[in-house]
Amino acid sequence: EEWQDRGASVIRQQEVDSSGQTVTRTVKKGVKDFNFGRTLGEGSYSTVLAATDRQTLKEYAIKVLDKRHIIKEKKVKYVNIERDTLNRLTEHPGIVRLYYTFQDERSLYFVLDLASSGELLGVLKKMGSFDMECARFYGAEILDSVAYMHSRGVIHRDLKPENVLLDKDMHVKITDFGTAKILPEPRVGGAGSQEAPGDPTDGAETDRAVSFVGTAEYVSPELLRDKNACKASDLWAFGCIIYQLLAGRPPFKAANEYLTFQKILALDYTFPDAFPEVARDLIERLLVLEPANRLPIEHIRNHRFFDGVQWGKGLWRQKAPRLK
Ligand code: ADE
Repeated sequence: EEWQDRGASVIRQQEVDSSGQTVTRTVKKGVKDFNFGRTLGEGSYSTVLAATDRQTLKEYAIKVLDKRHIIKEKKVKYVNIERDTLNRLTEHPGIVRLYYTFQDERSLYFVLDLASSGELLGVLKKMGSFDMECARFYGAEILDSVAYMHSRGVIHRDLKPENVLLDKDMHVKITDFGTAKILPEPRVGGAGSQEAPGDPTDGAETDRAVSFVGTAEYVSPELLRDKNACKASDLWAFGCIIYQLLAGRPPFKAANEYLTFQKILALDYTFPDAFPEVARDLIERLLVLEPANRLPIEHIRNHRFFDGVQWGKGLWRQKAPRLK
């Protein structure tokens, strides 16, 4: 079976039977356990629907993927990467969590956190641009989420305001790990470690590396030059996002992809008049052609741009600033 499920979808339910004995049943969630609602988004291989768990009434976003289409278009590998990645990133409020996976004859289903306020891109477009307070808050939540995924050995590779979703309280939920790269984890598997040895992307990685280029405006120069993404590639995209939050448009934008790539490789961008100096300083330390020379996450956190941010749990408990 090509689509064997793992871990995430199995729940254990303890019950007392008629003879008074406690029995543990393993129950698997399936399509019939949810009421499906409105369409939240549509991609080339999937549709995301709002859904409610019939038992708990908890709301989710369910990504429905068409098996035949995925096989025909040879995307099986990427669907597996998305599931494996999300299964590794379950302990952070800034990343869309995968609760269950199941399938029927036609489709695969990923049951995810619902981010009911939609894409950061939509909010940004409606506002035009953000003030410093909002840019600092959303920048901090994105950075905290990226720091977590990197600590778990995941490079996103396609960070952009469309992949930054917002929950009902306007906190960040990063999504779309179908083009992520899983690094072998630099930790010894202790109790509770369930990872199989080896990198699940071994072998797959070489052809992906040459075939995958993220979204033109946020692509790093090393990906264009060497077809090679590293953790710092996500920090390039992060620099592009901070710029966009304040300027209302990404730093590298041209009439077509080719011209955009040329601008990126030449580091050809300028700041609008009256762009805050402290943000400009941070962005100039992120949009650096050589990935090794980009400001590392620990230093980004301590940059003046983020002065006053409570890093850690406080950030996620804080009330999101009013959009201005
Ligand atoms: N669109 C895509 N994924 C989504 C999610 N998890 N929540 C809301 N809308 C989405």
